[in-house]
Amino acid sequence: MVRIIGMLVGLFFSGWMLVTFVLGATEFVTNPPAETAEHKFHLKPKKVAFPSDGPLGKFDNQQLQRGFQVYKEVCAACHSLRLVAFRNLQDIGYNEDEVKAIAASWVIETPSVDPATGEASSRPSLPADKFPKPFANDIAAAAANNNAIPPDLSLITKARKGGAPYIYSLLTGYQDTPEDLPEANQPGPGLHYNPYFPNLNLAMASPLASEDMVSYSDGTQASIDQMAKDVSAFLVWSAEPKLVERHQTGWAVIAFLLIATILAYLSFRTIWADVKAEKKKKGAEG
Ligand code: HEC
Repeated sequence: MVRIIGMLVGLFFSGWMLVTFVLGATEFVTNPPAETAEHKFHLKPKKVAFPSDGPLGKFDNQQLQRGFQVYKEVCAACHSLRLVAFRNLQDIGYNEDEVKAIAASWVIETPSVDPATGEASSRPSLPADKFPKPFANDIAAAAANNNAIPPDLSLITKARKGGAPYIYSLLTGYQDTPEDLPEANQPGPGLHYNPYFPNLNLAMASPLASEDMVSYSDGTQASIDQMAKDVSAFLVWSAEPKLVERHQTGWAVIAFLLIATILAYLSFRTIWADVKAEKKKKGAEG
C-alpha cells in the first residue's frame, strides 16, 4: 500500500515537472525575450582579476591604498562613501597618525554646529568621522550633475550586477557613439556613451580621462587601466572590509566539518563492531 502511494506521489511530481518544462520551452520558442537595440550594443563586463577573488582571495593593501588615492583625488569630488570612517583606513595599512592627517586635511569638512551661535557650520574631520559627503543633499548633488545624483560608492561593488569588474569596465569603457546607434539610444545633452552602462548613456563623464591623474605614492605608473583597477579593488574593500576574515572562517568551518565527519565515521565503526562480530560468530556456529 505504502509503495503504491509512493509511486503515485512520484509520478505526480515528475508529471508536473514535465508539464512545467514543456510549457516553459513553448513559451520561450513562441515568445523569445525581445531583442532590443540595447542588447546589441550593451556589453558584458570585461574579464579582470582582483587579488580578493576566489575562496583564497586576500586584499593587497598596497593596491587598496592606491585605490584610496584615486577615490580621494578624483571620485570624492562627486561621490560620497558614507559607510566608511577615516579610522577604517587603518585596516588597509595606514597608521594612526596618517589617518589623523588624512582626516584633518580632507577637502570637505564635517558638518557641525558653531558652539557659540548654534548655527550650522563645519569643522576638520577626526578619525572617528565618516567620510563627509561632497554635496549637502540630493538636490544640490543633482543640480551640479546634470540632474543625476552620483550614487554613494560604499556598497557599489555589491549593488551592481557584475561587481568590481563592472566598475572597472565602466571606468575604462567610454567610447565614441557607434555609427549605427539608433536615434532612441543616442546620448542626450550632458550624457556620455558607455556600452557597459545598462542603458548605454550616463551622466558621468569619463572620470579617469587621462593617465597620471594621480601620482601614486608607491611609484606605480598611473595608467588609466591601473587607476580603474585600483579604485575598483578599493571599492571591493569598502563594500566588504571583512572579506578575508570571511574566507578564513569558511576554511575553519570546512576543517571542523571534516574532522566531525571522520569522528562520526569512527564512532559508527566502534559502535557496530560488536554487532558485526556477534553476527559472524552466530554464522560460524550455525
Ligand atoms: C564630476 C562628478 C563625478 C566624478 C568626479 C565621478 N563621478 Fe561617478 N557618477 C557621477 C554621476 C553624476 C553619476 C550618475 C550617472 C547616471 O546615473 O547617469 C555617477 C555614477 C557612477 C557610478 C554608477 C554607475 C551605475 O551603474 O549606476 C559609478 C560606479 C561611479 N560613478 C564611479 C565613479 C568612480 C570610481 C569615480 C572616480 C574614479 C567617479 N565615479 C567619479 C559623477 C561623478
